[in-house]
Amino acid sequence: MSNRKVLRMGLIGAGRIGKIHAHNIASRIPQAKIAAIADVNLKAAQQLAGELHVSNVYEDYRKIMGDPDIDAVAILTSTDTHADLIIAAAAAGKHIFCEKPIDLTLERVDKAIAAVHKAGVKCQIGFNRRFDPSFTRLYQLIKSGKIGKLQILRITNREPAPPPVSFVKTSGGMFLDMTIHDFDMAGYLSDSDVVEVYAIGGVMVDPAIGKAGDIDTAIITLKFANGAIGTIDNSRKAVYGYDQRVEVFGSGGMATIANNPANAATYSNAKGVLTDKPSYFFLERFAEAYTAEMSEFVKAVLANRPTLFTAAESRKPVVIAMAANKSLRENRPVRIKEIK
Ligand SMILES: NC(=O)c1ccc[n+]([C@@H]2O[C@H](COP(=O)([O-])OP(=O)(O)OC[C@H]3O[C@@H](n4cnc5c(N)ncnc54)[C@H](O)[C@@H]3O)[C@@H](O)[C@H]2O)c1
Repeated sequence: MSNRKVLRMGLIGAGRIGKIHAHNIASRIPQAKIAAIADVNLKAAQQLAGELHVSNVYEDYRKIMGDPDIDAVAILTSTDTHADLIIAAAAAGKHIFCEKPIDLTLERVDKAIAAVHKAGVKCQIGFNRRFDPSFTRLYQLIKSGKIGKLQILRITNREPAPPPVSFVKTSGGMFLDMTIHDFDMAGYLSDSDVVEVYAIGGVMVDPAIGKAGDIDTAIITLKFANGAIGTIDNSRKAVYGYDQRVEVFGSGGMATIANNPANAATYSNAKGVLTDKPSYFFLERFAEAYTAEMSEFVKAVLANRPTLFTAAESRKPVVIAMAANKSLRENRPVRIKEIK
């Protein structure tokens, strides 16, 4: 791919997130071109390819790996396929963007990271919140010292509706699927490492989630290496929409991220003032971040510089999620170093 001006990408996975990334690349990232789309559900791949005028459509992702004219792949498939696809892409010498997380076991996460390092390809994992303008602003405030010494970090992450039980069964559970974004943000915003977690949780939204062995509501307390403490609270169902709020509090001040309303209008009358609910879900709330993360990946590959977030860095939130699962099971605080 020497001196290419436009990155030729193969997309694997044409589901919910696959469609978002595909449309972003096609319409908002001029430095990339979709050369092929593959999905085991050929109809889904064909439909997406039709919308975007992509002529190479496959059921078998190996056709993408074998195409010498494709520089990079975007792995947008179900989580249980990520590690194998990363290993296959690295072996084929393709640069890799992969959705989070790499895998639900550390053994397979490590195998995939080793394959990336051995091949010397670039690999960025889709922790999109790192590319959201509000989260970035909070990080800058902390990094520049304006918050002073960080003392308390609070993250609220509540979804508007629970996922189908079929998804819950393959997701690895709420901590590895949903809270994993908060664990990543905890490390990022504290500019430190989580050293201990204590998780409590329950089934308050949908008994079917409990029957599938998962929880839908949780509070997690965190201790950081820099001495700060924090909380994360999660629910799979907030009736008012996607609730994404953060507060950082330190010796020099405080900063918050509030919800983005679906529109900025307010209506006032004799009873009160009405604004719209928060934007419905992640596709709306983080639309800008999905484009920014893919754009960053494309630019890093074309410029042959490291990506802003690597496969190796993406291991940390997986380890914290595993510690939270252990804490929930054993009803005690768990040190991160207990997880191997
Ligand atoms: N970063 C985020 O905000 C975010 C949001 C949603 C989903 N995700 C992640 O994206 C991934 C996909 O989630 P989704 O909600 O789009 O799921 P989905 O079920 O809607 O789509 C997954 C697609 O992958 C296809 N697929 C599965 N195995 C395949 C294989 N071996 N080869 C080719 N295609 C294959 C399926 O047929 C399906 O079309 C998950 O890992 C999830 O954690 C991330």
